[in-house]
Amino acid sequence: MNQPIKDPDAPFGHKYGPFVTDVFAPLTEEETYADLPVIGEIPADLNGVYLRNSPNPRFEPKGEYHPFDGDGMLHSAHFENGRLVLRNKWVRTDAWQHEDTTQGAEYWGIRQTLKGREDQPIKDSANTDVIGHAGAALTTWYLAGVPYAVDPITLETLGPRYNYLDKPDSGMSAHCKVDEVTGELMYFDYGDHWPYMWYGVADAQGEITHRVPIELPGNRLPHDMAITEHYSILHDHPVFHDEEARAAGRHKIVFDSTMASRLGVIPRKGDAASIRWFEFSGAFIYHVINAWEEGDEVIMVACRYQPAKNADGSFNDVGTAKMISRLVMDARLWRYRMNLKTGECSEACLDPDFNVEFPSYDSRLTGRKSEFAYLVDHDPKILRWRGICKYNTDTGERLGAWSDDLDHCWYSEPWFAPADHQKAEDHGYVVAFAYNDETRNQELQVFDAQDLSQGPVARIKMPTRIPPGFHACWMKPEQIQSRVG
Ligand SMILES: [Fe+2]
Repeated sequence: MNQPIKDPDAPFGHKYGPFVTDVFAPLTEEETYADLPVIGEIPADLNGVYLRNSPNPRFEPKGEYHPFDGDGMLHSAHFENGRLVLRNKWVRTDAWQHEDTTQGAEYWGIRQTLKGREDQPIKDSANTDVIGHAGAALTTWYLAGVPYAVDPITLETLGPRYNYLDKPDSGMSAHCKVDEVTGELMYFDYGDHWPYMWYGVADAQGEITHRVPIELPGNRLPHDMAITEHYSILHDHPVFHDEEARAAGRHKIVFDSTMASRLGVIPRKGDAASIRWFEFSGAFIYHVINAWEEGDEVIMVACRYQPAKNADGSFNDVGTAKMISRLVMDARLWRYRMNLKTGECSEACLDPDFNVEFPSYDSRLTGRKSEFAYLVDHDPKILRWRGICKYNTDTGERLGAWSDDLDHCWYSEPWFAPADHQKAEDHGYVVAFAYNDETRNQELQVFDAQDLSQGPVARIKMPTRIPPGFHACWMKPEQIQSRVG
């Protein structure tokens, strides 16, 4: 049995690596806060809930800890008629419940094991992404597992949702997409064995309506996808497991810049043979911003990894693979164009100057033309997002940025929250958590989306540090009202 947590700055000591200590130290309590002090004013026309997923290990790890290993924990900020309630709660996955029974770690991390190993099982933790669908907050895992539904207000876990899958042992990756016009959800699943990828569609109630195999040339580590009104865009980047290491039961990521990056465009309910692949220069994309159709073209804007370079300017593929596996993000805004009629395609960097990642936008426009994106400014330091910024993704123009302190702030993935009676794409707010590691001040910050550079219009002081995490979303009142909890 594990010892009870005593030191919140290093609850498991210092032998498991840097990602369970200091700023990264996991929280030990589930809390609810209301009526906290506000500097400025919570906008009266801001209604909905900001949800952020994160890895938050509950028990002492079995070995070196990687940020992908922790139990999923949601943090929420629910705005309703000028009142704000903040919560945090673990997702009660089957693995969480098993360890609740044994009161100790029963699973191994990605530094020690591979998905699928029976002798050292890995945790299906639902810790990576969250999105509103069918009245619930759906939490998903980057290695593709069972999606878990959570009540977006109480954060009570509603349970695993096998109805999205065609059989119990198939999975859904993080970064499924919801078409808010039709209510459909599109997702991919991937694995180390042929055909290496699957593509699925669920209806507005979360029932699977379509799932087809997508044959890739080998094992891949895709992380995101995109949708348009009529198509889905699946990713095949030259990032994969080293076969020798995999055979030995270890993770080792390989990047090969001599191989193409391929984007596969498949009709929303298309069969496996209907996918069309477009080839681009070899790169890795962690996160898509959005995609849409323009005439015969499909357009996708995304944050593309900068490859590591040797001193002579040549590609350093080993260095790039290490950056990817260590979550050292060095990405730029790029646009991809694919012409479905002529087969031509092109790629262009929109702003070479700034390292931006973890994007958001007005999710009502998922799969439709959008103009604005809200991202984090990256520090080279791992997983430290030192500020937030806004872009016009048509022009690549940087439209504003903010950080309380570039050297000491840790922002969460910001999400756009439309104002009530939204009148323009960027009429609304941007919501993010911000922690200062020097002052140890934790805030929830609310920005006017049309003027980020003026700083927060509301700062809500929080009594508890919120550790860095992964993805967030914004659920609007109409999505919350249909909740099933
Ligand atoms: Fe991600």
